[in-house]
Formats: sequence, structure tokens, C-alpha cells
Amino acid sequence: MIIKNARTFPGNNIIDIRIDGGKVSKDASDSFTVDAGKNIVIPSFSELHIHLDSVFIMSPTLINRSGTLEEGIALWDEYKKHSLNADELNIRVRKALELLLSNGVTRVRTNVDVSDPDLTALKELIRIKKEFTDIDLQITAFPQHGMYTDKMNMELLERAIELGADNVGLAPHLEDTFEDGIKSVKSAYDLAEKYHKNIDGHIDETDDPESRFIEYLAKEKIRRNFTGSVAAGHLTAMHSYNNQYANKVIKLISRAKINVVSNPLINMHLQGRYDSYPRIRGITRIKEMLDYKVNVALGEDCIMDPWYPMGSGDPLDALFMALHAEPLMAPPYLENSMNMLTYNAASAFGVRNYGYSEGDEGDFIITDTQNPVEIVQYRHKRLVVRRGRLVNEVNK
Ligand code: FE2
Repeated sequence: MIIKNARTFPGNNIIDIRIDGGKVSKDASDSFTVDAGKNIVIPSFSELHIHLDSVFIMSPTLINRSGTLEEGIALWDEYKKHSLNADELNIRVRKALELLLSNGVTRVRTNVDVSDPDLTALKELIRIKKEFTDIDLQITAFPQHGMYTDKMNMELLERAIELGADNVGLAPHLEDTFEDGIKSVKSAYDLAEKYHKNIDGHIDETDDPESRFIEYLAKEKIRRNFTGSVAAGHLTAMHSYNNQYANKVIKLISRAKINVVSNPLINMHLQGRYDSYPRIRGITRIKEMLDYKVNVALGEDCIMDPWYPMGSGDPLDALFMALHAEPLMAPPYLENSMNMLTYNAASAFGVRNYGYSEGDEGDFIITDTQNPVEIVQYRHKRLVVRRGRLVNEVNK
């Protein structure tokens, strides 16, 4: 396949992208050509934080009336007990993956709740990962109730990793005590080292300014000289930190090279629920972290589940929300914000060959604009290329 007249972003150069054998290659034949008309063609999106096991379960019996994280977890527990099975999960997950793919996502890192004694969702997701080859799927074993709130939790987490989960998850702010939270950070590194896995955590997803597990996560990576990748999802407590402490911890995150994944849609909805007015915005400090060269990516987190009654499968929606909530509406942040879905996200996912160069992955999104801001402003008319094959046309 050849994509002619493609405008690079960043770079703003007009090039022909030749794809052969699924990769960018000089040797591609002229058999199938798409003319991008000098519009921007970006390497595909990566969705770094989503819960595929709970997508599309929203129903009149699963309404989160308080809008809190906690009520969402209780409703999800009910669903797992009475309704979850491999067949219905398979249908929901495939629907979500198709949706994500149609919006230009060809890499997905999903959390899977591993507090279920049968690990039903995990086993089915591992099967789907092998079958659904249009998306590269990574699975994070997510201890929804922490590692130490029940004696079974650690056993199930380790079992999930042995069965084939890619990343070790953790949620220190959901442990019963501060001590258990710290212990869970150490245990995540122990497991990751034992099984040669990466770490992908829910960290400080609370409004509580005393929730400071991110500093332990960062320091422990440095202390152990941990060579895998570490992602910290949410970090919403940072919104409530005093400025001096936030500055200290952001520098530590930068030094430790922790990837940060903000989920602006969900956290604008869930945070501030214990406030009256004035009410906090509730997403992490994206702008300040970008200033300190932290690798920040964005996630969608939820699609129609007890935590979020919406969700489109389009990463541009998360970006749109981040631009407003932070806000990031002035240069250079606005123009460069797309990188949080492209280069930053691919780097956090662990992609080595990403971009327009020889040998890079042949996954691209052809847009209909020459202005990077308009990609998020209008979010329409896109062609999605997977390994040199046109997989979908959006809104055509
Ligand atoms: Fe999450």
C-alpha cells in the first residue's frame, strides 16, 4: 500500500508512505494507493487504559447514583456475581475493540479484574487477544480490591500473571491501610521482577491530598533499578496536592521515567463527589508534568459501565476533555497535545518502531485536515490503516 501526499505530524513534511509486509518500507509496490491530499497522516492511536471486562454493561439496574468510584465498584461486584460469563463478555469486548479500531486505535492495554476466583474475564480476554489480530492487546492483571483486603487477592493476582497477563496491576489507594498500600507497591515490583513483567497501576485515584503512593512507586523504581516499564494511571490526588509537594513529586516521576496515563473523561465525572461547591476538576496535572518532560498519555478508561454512562471508543474525546479541564488551549500545548495519543502513548505501550521511518509499524490514520488542532476539534472523516490495509472508514 502507498499513502501518497501525506502530511507528517509532527514535522509538517509532505511524503509518500509505502507499506509492505505490515511495515513502512521503500519496497512497497504500487498495487494499492490512497491519496491523502496533503492532509495530516498520523501513526495510529494507542489506548493505554481501559477496562474491557466491564464495557457496555450499563443497565437500569446498574445506575451509579452517587457518581463515586466506590458505588461503581459495588455495582460491578454485583454484575460479576450474577451476570458475568465468558460468552456475554466476548460479545461486549469485541464490540468495544471494533469501535476502538474504527477510531484509529490499533494498540489497547486493558485492565482485567482478577478478584474473581474463577478468573473468567481474564481467561476470555487471553483468548480474544489471540483471535482479534487487528489490535495489539496487552492485559493488565488488575486487583480491583487491592492485594491485601482479602487473603485470596495475592494468590489470584499471581495466578493471573502465570496464566498470561502482560502487566502487574495495583491500586494502593484501595487498600485498607496506608501500610498495606505501601506493601502493595513493593509486591507489584516483586511480582514484576519474578515474572519479567511491566507494571501498570491505578495510583492515587482519589481526591484525598494525603494519598501519596506515586512517590513510593517512583522511588521504588529508582531504588531497585527496575528495567521494565511502569505506568501510573489516574493520579487524581495530585490535583489536590499543595503546589510545593506537587512540584517535588513531578520531578521525582520525571527522574524515575514513570509513564503517566490520565483518564480525563472518567475523572471529570467521578472526582469531586465528596465536595459541595466550589468543586474540583479532578484530573491530574498534565501541563506541569509535560513541562518536566514526563511521558503523559491519555486513556478512555470506561465505556458504558457503572463508572461512566458514556464512552465512544474515540481517544480524541479524552483529549478534547483534557484540553478543557486542564486547560491546554494555548501554544505549544494545544498544537502538541495529539502526541499524548500518538508518540507518548506508543512509547508507554512499549512500541519501538513507531513513526514514518523504514521498518516502523504500518498503522496510520489518514485525516481530512492540514491543521493538527482540527483533528480534535472536528473528529470526523478518518481512514484507518492497519499493517498496510484499510480497515475502516469513519463517518464517510
Ligand atoms: Fe481504571
